[in-house]
Amino acid sequence: MLRLSLLRITLPRPTTLFNCPTRHTKLRPQTMAASYTTRSSSHPRSNNLLFRQLFEKESSTYTYLLADRSHPDKPALLIDPVDKMVERDLSLVKELGLKLIYAMNTHVHADHVTGSGLIKNKIPGVKSIISKASNSQADLLIEAGDKICFGDLFLEVRATPGHTLGCVTYVTGDGPDQPQPRMAFTGDALLIRGCGRTDFQGGSSLQLYKSVHSQIFTLPKDTLLFPAHDYKGFTVSTVEEEMLYNPRLTKEEEAFKNIMENLKLPYPKMIDIAVPANMVCGLQDVSAKPVEATSN
Ligand SMILES: [Fe+2]
Repeated sequence: MLRLSLLRITLPRPTTLFNCPTRHTKLRPQTMAASYTTRSSSHPRSNNLLFRQLFEKESSTYTYLLADRSHPDKPALLIDPVDKMVERDLSLVKELGLKLIYAMNTHVHADHVTGSGLIKNKIPGVKSIISKASNSQADLLIEAGDKICFGDLFLEVRATPGHTLGCVTYVTGDGPDQPQPRMAFTGDALLIRGCGRTDFQGGSSLQLYKSVHSQIFTLPKDTLLFPAHDYKGFTVSTVEEEMLYNPRLTKEEEAFKNIMENLKLPYPKMIDIAVPANMVCGLQDVSAKPVEATSN
């Protein structure tokens, strides 16, 4: 009896599985994510994964298309789609013969309007996804430890708040049939040699510091990092690279806090349009205007 109650206390929150085949019902707790042999390749190796990195130049936003090409349906998902690029994204999905099932966001963006709403209107059946902690609306509200499957591939959800309250990082699965090295879609929590600002939307520099160190820097060192933005022309980094060279997150916690409190960034130009729209996952009547980079 005592044993059972102890077990109940130590068990992690039950994992919610989205669209997952039964053989993927086990997910290791985040704290047990272990390092494995480091590979030198900068490209993910998986025969099954179809991967595209797409760019929207006005807000310097990356959108990622992932699909299981070996599955008969070729199920696909988009991470952080931008409203004005939806035509491009859906054309690509069509050309590649994919079946889009999810339009996902890493967080409530302040610098552009998500394409999730437009995508849902154009392809009925696509489900929008965002974190429950974001307090916004979507078809599926995910939490840390949840698992989002597309065909035989899957993404794990890691909570990485600090840029906003509801930021998450999506990480490809840990297993021989999953992409290797692993891939982490960090949103604005961790940018290449930078990080998202922490001065609005429930941001907290100390929380961001903890999130990155506990949820991203604990991934295998060769994990490929794909941010939501880049303003300098970078496309991908690794955990090892950012642990060595990130000018902010290699600092001690207090020094990081001082850096973040003294960035003196302007008020984001799109925030008053983008945030209300993104709180309903882009399902609103919004005419987005050109934007400038404001996210870091
Ligand atoms: Fe952001």
